Amino acid sequence: MSKKLLFVIAGPRLAGCTAFAARTAAEAARAAGSEVTIVELPKVKGGTTGCISCYGCQRSAEYRCVLDDGMSELVASVPQYDAVVIASPVFFFSISCQAKAFLDRFFCLIKHREDGSIATPLGRVGLAFITTSGGDEDDSGVRNIYGTMRDCAAFLGSGEPKFLYYGLCGDPAVFKADPANAEKAAAFGRSL
Ligand SMILES: Cc1cc2nc3c(=O)[nH]c(=O)nc-3n(C[C@H](O)[C@H](O)[C@H](O)COP(=O)(O)O)c2cc1C
Repeated sequence: MSKKLLFVIAGPRLAGCTAFAARTAAEAARAAGSEVTIVELPKVKGGTTGCISCYGCQRSAEYRCVLDDGMSELVASVPQYDAVVIASPVFFFSISCQAKAFLDRFFCLIKHREDGSIATPLGRVGLAFITTSGGDEDDSGVRNIYGTMRDCAAFLGSGEPKFLYYGLCGDPAVFKADPANAEKAAAFGRSL
């Protein structure tokens, strides 16, 4: 069945390893029949502005951030996808500030009920994360990203997130020249 997939490139280097892996995965998903949208967060207005904790969204019935910028538009569109794929390098043992800003704005896609439960349209949206790091799986901090995304998915009720990870990455030219990296990304894209 054809799926609607949103790829969000959420690192500062649009020609870096992570963006290359994300675009390769996205193209493979498209070739396999999915409807694919790619957004480059550094080009989105408000792309590094996270939640300002105004609670405006919690006083409204709409699943939309009250800030007037491109990030609000983007986040409001997330529930229409079958899956959202966030691509971010590992920065200081965690996700990039762009990826964090994007995720924090998901607050507007959650309504807190009086009984403590939440209502959200995100329960049917799968989460996936593409990441690359200079270190390896043991010392890069990527496990913190696995933990963050698993906790996030459990909270939203969206099932087990999917991950594509490359360790020991440096020069993007070297990364792109290795056909095994593109093949791994393409296989991931087809699996979404
Ligand atoms: C600000 C900054 C912080 C980084 N922090 C880490 C880190 O904590 N762990 C790690 O393994 N690599 C770290 N790196 C290396 C990057 O994760 C790695 O080079 C990655 O492949 C860059 O992705 P890109 O080519 O898409 O920009 C860091 C790089 C930068 C610029």
